[in-house]
Amino acid sequence: MREIARYRRALPVGLDRMFENALDWQHLPHLHRTTFTDATLLDEGDDFWEARLALAGFGPLTQDVRLTLDPATGVWVSEVRAGVAKGMVIHTTAIAEGPRAITVDVRFRVPGRRPWNRWLGRRMVETYRVLYDEDEAMMVERQAQLDRRRTGADGPVRLGTEAEIGRPGFSFAHRGRTFAVARVDGAWIAWSTLCPHWLGPLGGQAPVDGCVECPWHGYRFDVRTGRCLDHPLKLTPAPRLNRDADGVYWAGAEPQAADTST
Ligand code: FES
Ligand SMILES: [Fe+2]
Repeated sequence: MREIARYRRALPVGLDRMFENALDWQHLPHLHRTTFTDATLLDEGDDFWEARLALAGFGPLTQDVRLTLDPATGVWVSEVRAGVAKGMVIHTTAIAEGPRAITVDVRFRVPGRRPWNRWLGRRMVETYRVLYDEDEAMMVERQAQLDRRRTGADGPVRLGTEAEIGRPGFSFAHRGRTFAVARVDGAWIAWSTLCPHWLGPLGGQAPVDGCVECPWHGYRFDVRTGRCLDHPLKLTPAPRLNRDADGVYWAGAEPQAADTST
């Protein structure tokens, strides 16, 4: 095998986030939608997966990739078994530099000398830079959400007037969780911005037909019921929103004193 390129990168996460990311084939056509348009699982086990990946920008072309992870050595190997770049082997070593700091060292290898190897090597490094940008954002956010999974203070939370809660991207914290707000079917409702699958972000988007879609693996949730349309998962229940006599919205409890004046 001939090494045609190498890519090294420091990442502010632990090995646990990196390994689960490597074994997570489902995020490929969602988080990495500019690289992969589809992924069909062919086989799967505790430390490997094999999938047929449709490549963005390559029309109907696909490649069958098998990824095998050895957590003991921090090495995972992706072999292209069929399709585009068949025979390529991508060898990645992750080294822990600290509890939340790793370096990944990626080596791209092909079976023989080919005139386009240099071009392919450059292309792989460019692609991996994008993939790791996207993975880093996902892993950092997931870790932050795992760290935040504590129950915070109880009690009502003042949200603001209709104009304030209607601002794009509005969210609020309640009992240590974050919720987004939108007007759906004529009523203001809140929903958890934390996807119950891998804790992906469900805020910052307006529901379409009452549903939001997670950008990490594409699961859709009906914010009215909290139900997932694709899996037997449910959102963390959101607090009820109440409006007081001054037109101010509150979450999680009856409106404050002003409400009693009417
Ligand atoms: S984190 Fe996987 S679908 Fe949301
Ligand atoms: Fe990824």
